[in-house]
Amino acid sequence: MTAGVGAGGSTRGFTRGRRLRSTAALRRLTAQTRLAPADLVLPVFVKEGIDEPQPISSMPGVVQHTTESLRKAAHEAAEAGIGGLVLFGIPSEKDAVGSQADAADGIVNVALQQLRADLGDELVLMADLCLCEYTDHGHCGLVTPAGVVDNDPTLDRYAAVAIAQAQAGAHVIAPSGMMDGQVAAIRRALDGAAFQETPILAYAAKYASGFYGPFREAAEGAPQFGDRSTYQMDPPNADEALREVAQDLAEGADAVMVKPALPYLDIVARVADAVDVPVSAYQVSGEYAMLEAAAANGWVDRQRAVLETLTAIRRAGAGTVLTYWAVEAARWLR
Ligand code: PBG
Repeated sequence: MTAGVGAGGSTRGFTRGRRLRSTAALRRLTAQTRLAPADLVLPVFVKEGIDEPQPISSMPGVVQHTTESLRKAAHEAAEAGIGGLVLFGIPSEKDAVGSQADAADGIVNVALQQLRADLGDELVLMADLCLCEYTDHGHCGLVTPAGVVDNDPTLDRYAAVAIAQAQAGAHVIAPSGMMDGQVAAIRRALDGAAFQETPILAYAAKYASGFYGPFREAAEGAPQFGDRSTYQMDPPNADEALREVAQDLAEGADAVMVKPALPYLDIVARVADAVDVPVSAYQVSGEYAMLEAAAANGWVDRQRAVLETLTAIRRAGAGTVLTYWAVEAARWLR
């Protein structure tokens, strides 16, 4: 090949990258990353004992649903063509062991039952499996008298919750508590209760992040003492994410997640390179709040910036993005 006259080359000694950018149709044709409604999953909050949906002040546009408003929102989500929902429940009564997480009449299990009855298999119904919304101390597991989050006894609670969520109709169990051995414990429990076919999406690389702030208002699960840094990952670490992912896959996870998303795109990319199972990324509450606040001030073009973040997360290697903008973005994309 003559020097400088290859594909995209030039007789003038430089490459004309602009050729493929000159029209919207050319850009669309050559786009390397595509974003589709089916790639998006909407996290939803359902709260016990309220008559009207409650706005979440730090997440404008997001609400704590009643079971009825959730059913309506789920129909709209199905209509918009998104991939699924991930459910978080907020019970009226909390206790030290998070009893309402696996009570058959616990709010999240009631909501799962209703949505499964309403929608069948039209949307993938994922159950976030954690105790923090259900415990009075707000930690993701059981706590010793000394105030330590107690790994192994927590696994038995997770096992019971997984079975309750599968019985209620969850298509996917998504453990987010970051206890060691949680995937194995849940897999064993599901298999033992004839839910061999229920997949586990492991929040494998979940960081102890400042970007969860607004979620704690939404899910009313802020820790009452200490923080989550003895179980969630430390932000400076990257290789550890690969170990967490490998461990979860060895324990039986069917798919893995990285969380948060935008500040951890390097982790998304490394995980996506390392594994051959589906990779999700969770664009968390603080990522949402930050951009909403900037848009409300007119500092960024909201739609453009939202779609850019979602595209970036897909480009980094996530097949699925959990995002509070799922339904709105899906409508834009249609
Ligand atoms: C519960 C859980 C959290 C989020 C998802 N599942 C909060 C936390 O770990 O403190 C955060 C989601 C968000 O911020 O949008 N373990």
